[in-house]
Amino acid sequence: NTSTVKLNTGYTIPQVGLGTWRSKEGDGYKAVTAALKAGYRHIDGAAIYLNEEEVGKAIRDSGIPREELFITTKLWNTQQRNPQEALEQSLERLGLEYVDLYLMHWPVPLKTKRITDGNLLSSPAKEDGKPDVDTEWDFVKTWELMQELPKTKKARSVGVSNFSINNLKELLASPGNKLVPAVLQVEIHPLLPQYALCDFCKEHNIQVEAYSPLGGHGAPVLDDPIIKQIADRHNADAGNVVVSWGVQRGIVTLPKSTTPERVVSNLRTFKLSDEEMGSINNLSKSRGQKRTNAPDMSPFPLFE
Ligand code: A2P
Repeated sequence: NTSTVKLNTGYTIPQVGLGTWRSKEGDGYKAVTAALKAGYRHIDGAAIYLNEEEVGKAIRDSGIPREELFITTKLWNTQQRNPQEALEQSLERLGLEYVDLYLMHWPVPLKTKRITDGNLLSSPAKEDGKPDVDTEWDFVKTWELMQELPKTKKARSVGVSNFSINNLKELLASPGNKLVPAVLQVEIHPLLPQYALCDFCKEHNIQVEAYSPLGGHGAPVLDDPIIKQIADRHNADAGNVVVSWGVQRGIVTLPKSTTPERVVSNLRTFKLSDEEMGSINNLSKSRGQKRTNAPDMSPFPLFE
């Protein structure tokens, strides 16, 4: 699938991108290399994935002209007071002049704890095990700083991730807000379809992106019997059905894999019939879940 959609900034974004979360220690390089070779032109990364160096190297080594690629990275929670500095550090690690999209990773600023190697990403939990939230800062202030970044040409578009409808409403209504986020990236798959959030974004011209579209945060999506049945009918695997469902909903879909064969396979999509779409759309009614979040990545509540 090489289809693209247009963001509210006027830039186009490929509808299927490679997710790089948990692609570490050489896996990231291999996955990105396999993806670009297979025809992906969209790579989704983040500072906290701690693999920007190898992701960037694979991008540069591919020899594909930069203009043909869409590269995303994300601001980690501990750097919300200085997104410009964080972006510059990400670009340095990626070895790139600009990213196509820079996202606020979570609506939760955490206190910075500088650790010995100077890595600002770390924010050790407080002694009670809870995250060390920076209560004197908030995501609205972070957004006010982020909305200036496109002027620096170091991020073409800016957006947010893991925001609820209420978070978005608060951001859009804040007096200092001048820019509607280009993108909202959240967890979306057939067991967590996020219909209300997607409707809200459509109304406000915010493009939705799906992370963990295959249920990678622990949701049993790929072994769902209905999805498997549809896959058999199309001579495809469950992953193809789920990515096709996301794309057909108009969502930018970011399957993650470090297995080169799956990276290649996940780019294959096809048209699902209305009946097939309907039966996948209904799965969440019987089997849905409120949220799945990896405990190591999201130790804080989402503010609903
Ligand atoms: P791996 O990286 O070993 O290929 P998500 O994108 O929802 O986060 O899902 C990612 C998880 O699903 C990873 O564990 C990945 O494993 C696995 N995965 C990726 N593509 C497929 C596929 N086509 N079939 C089965 N599992 C897949």
